[in-house]
Amino acid sequence: MCGIVGYIGHREAYPIILKGLKRLEYRGYDSAGIALYDGCDIKLSKTKGKVVDLEDKLLKEIPTVGSLGIGHTRWATHGVPNDVNSHPHYSNSGNLVIIHNGIIENYESLKTELKNRGYSFKSDTDTEVLINLIEDVMKNDNLKLGKAVQIALNQVVGAYAIAVFDKNKPNEIVVAKLGSPLAIGIGDDEFFIASDASPFIEYTKNAIYLEDEEMAIVRRGKDLKIRKIKDDSLVDPYIQELQINLEQIEKGGYDHFMLKEIYEQPSAIKDTYRGRMLVNEAIIKLAGVEDNMKKFLNADRIIIVACGTSWHAGLVAEYIFEDLARIPVEVEYASEFRYRNPVINEKDLVIAISQSGETADTLAAIKLAKSKGAFVFGVCNVVGSSIARETNAGAYTHAGPEIGVASTKAFTTQITILTLIALRLARAKGTISSSDFRLYLMELEMIPEKVIKALESEEHIKKIAEIYKTTRNFLYLGRGYNFPVALEGALKLKEISYIHAEGYPAAEMKHGPIALIDENMPIAVIATKKGHYEKVVSNIQEIKSRKGKIIGIVTEGDVSVRELADHVIEVPETLEALSPLLTTIPLQLLSYHIAVMLGKNVDQPRNLAKSVTVE
Ligand code: F6R
Repeated sequence: MCGIVGYIGHREAYPIILKGLKRLEYRGYDSAGIALYDGCDIKLSKTKGKVVDLEDKLLKEIPTVGSLGIGHTRWATHGVPNDVNSHPHYSNSGNLVIIHNGIIENYESLKTELKNRGYSFKSDTDTEVLINLIEDVMKNDNLKLGKAVQIALNQVVGAYAIAVFDKNKPNEIVVAKLGSPLAIGIGDDEFFIASDASPFIEYTKNAIYLEDEEMAIVRRGKDLKIRKIKDDSLVDPYIQELQINLEQIEKGGYDHFMLKEIYEQPSAIKDTYRGRMLVNEAIIKLAGVEDNMKKFLNADRIIIVACGTSWHAGLVAEYIFEDLARIPVEVEYASEFRYRNPVINEKDLVIAISQSGETADTLAAIKLAKSKGAFVFGVCNVVGSSIARETNAGAYTHAGPEIGVASTKAFTTQITILTLIALRLARAKGTISSSDFRLYLMELEMIPEKVIKALESEEHIKKIAEIYKTTRNFLYLGRGYNFPVALEGALKLKEISYIHAEGYPAAEMKHGPIALIDENMPIAVIATKKGHYEKVVSNIQEIKSRKGKIIGIVTEGDVSVRELADHVIEVPETLEALSPLLTTIPLQLLSYHIAVMLGKNVDQPRNLAKSVTVE
């Protein structure tokens, strides 16, 4: 995720763009840049770091004059966050300049072709490839910028929201969208371009949201024309009157970042498998795994180190690695592992999981494992983070920035990437048949749609939250793949509502926790159809006979649990190994709504921080 802003009109562009970038920083904040047309040339300044760092640097580097400009705040995907990889990017001639939010998946082949035609590249980004492709089309066919953008985009596979201008045509900006958002604010003889409406809400309430595969040329003092990228047909612009205030926009219309991030899970999961899982070809391609396949295949065991929610994702991975790839797995709290003189050597492969990539205990566990000769593979969300740099290899989740302190989309995207790794290894080891492999890929591809379906229960979950919001204790039970989900459900409730909650493997209940059960104890039980369904139903009967209040998380159409439970929340059916990606959704929503009803600070719960960089 990145934020893009542009302006063309009669005002000074710089303050509008700078303020707009600050508002879009929730979308990414590892580097930022601005390009302005000063009346004769493009003036550009960019830097690694936040928008405030850019502000300091830019004022020393370039004049801030000009009524046309574009700006970008980055959340790195291709290329580590540094000054060179920051946007905007020039074309080789220096005539064109671009900002881009998205991923160009076929950039490597395009880059090779362009190199063969004499183009050179300063950065590691897919974006620099795109701007040179546009320049190449423009030069070869002697075309105007708009047409060249259109032709170039028809050669591109991936997602984009772009804004491009040409210093030789300084009265227009060309914008286009596929997959990533792009809004155009329409003022009096001026246009604003942005990833969402927050950068221009105080200037105009009139906006057009481009649809996928649409492009527009915004010209100073002229009407806006929108075209389809594929067939060049004109589209009637639909101008919306914005009803929203600034505060809402920054959270994308949601009351809290946590809720927004819960709802981002369908796209975050898709972004995480996109380009790595080719369903029709039945292929999984993960560069970090491919390059180190021998290490994975020769490992005696895999040791997973992580903390908190990431540790829970590690527990889900333990089930799937052992189940599919038949590799022994141990999952360790990084904080315990680092201090207990673990037996570990060069035949071990360690996977470190961390959303932030900055968790001190996980970082220390990695260093310890490396010092003992183990190969360490990282699963991180934040590109270029300390853990991403410290590990020998890795794979990023593409969840986008997670701002709410309670982790939600990080968890499901971690499970997604770990599932891909397990499947890839299972294929390489021959422990999965090709038909099962294909089935997993097809099911994984359907998960985002099924998460959307699971999210539809929100209103029903709110009613359950209302009933249990004043309880002081909560139990969460699950078996097999859904035992870690029970732990994660309990953690979510604890951290944002401050209600005491425990997660247990359902069968462990009778070894102690059953003593807690009476008519005042709510118990969320994950009882989906696959796996140990009958056994979990027996556990539910045990709770029922002790008068506990049962909230069943069940597969659509379930009958048996419905007869026993006080409430049921349905999720769509999927393969057992993929069920945590669905069963976790209602538990996130339940804890969210209880915390909201209790008036807690959902996004910044007391005593917690988004990344724990101290022991
Ligand atoms: C829970 C939560 C924490 C983190 C833990 C690890 O909602 O956010 O438990 O999961 O602090 O953080 P990362 O994944 O950044 O290493």
